[in-house]
Amino acid sequence: MTRRRKIYEGKAKILYEGPEPGTIIQYFKDDATAFNAQKKGTINGKGVINNRISEHVFTRLAHIGIPTHFIRRLNMREQLVKQVEIVPIEVIVRNVAAGTLSKRLGIEEGTPLPHTLLEYCYKDDSLGDPLIAEEHIACFGWATQEEMQDISSMAIRVNDFMSGMFAGIGIRLVDFKLEFGRFFDGDFARIILADEISPDGCRLWDIETNEKLDKDRFRRDLGGEVEAYQEVARRLGLLPDEGSSEIMDLDAHRAKKSK
Ligand code: C5P
Repeated sequence: MTRRRKIYEGKAKILYEGPEPGTIIQYFKDDATAFNAQKKGTINGKGVINNRISEHVFTRLAHIGIPTHFIRRLNMREQLVKQVEIVPIEVIVRNVAAGTLSKRLGIEEGTPLPHTLLEYCYKDDSLGDPLIAEEHIACFGWATQEEMQDISSMAIRVNDFMSGMFAGIGIRLVDFKLEFGRFFDGDFARIILADEISPDGCRLWDIETNEKLDKDRFRRDLGGEVEAYQEVARRLGLLPDEGSSEIMDLDAHRAKKSK
């Protein structure tokens, strides 16, 4: 294999230079962190599952007209994506109170919110990704007003679509995080959805039992994180056989079956 240039190594992913200019390879690791990397660990096979789940969600979002960085999955742990300039804002979309919202405002976890809440955090690990207001974004020029219009309306559309998608498989989408990037087409920059969508950055609760099927199992030492991630993949139809714990390259599986 030819040596690839590593561009960036994050907490859960590594980015390599892609095969063509303007492309990037996103490699999904099994590493898990929480509380701004104060807690570290591994979730066996997480990278493989998140690669598949994120591919699935991004592909379905593209079908409803959301522009995304996703081009195609390359293998079990890697996907090819468009190179973007990441907007230094984490967009948190909330439907039900949980996590830092519950802590900050003293609202019991699980309380449905009167309407979807969008929050913004400044992407800076050394500062612990602090919560910011739209005024900070405008004041410091992190995104323009037009870009924030695109970002907020896309976040709401993504939430509507994903809430329905997960409800259809018995999962409540409590909250999640999105990242956006600027994709340059000549001099013109367009906002597109970037990063990943997986149980690492979503709170997913079973609709009947409220069982947590996301990274809170790791954050809160609940155990069973591998099984929870697998359960989400299984319900999305991404595991080849009912009850199988093996997440597979579905294309290879189909090819094998048709032989
Ligand atoms: O911790 P908090 O309640 O603010 O998280 C809200 C949502 O955003 C959760 O689904 C969490 O997984 C996600 N999140 C994330 N990365 C961060 C902060 C939050 O994926 N840095």
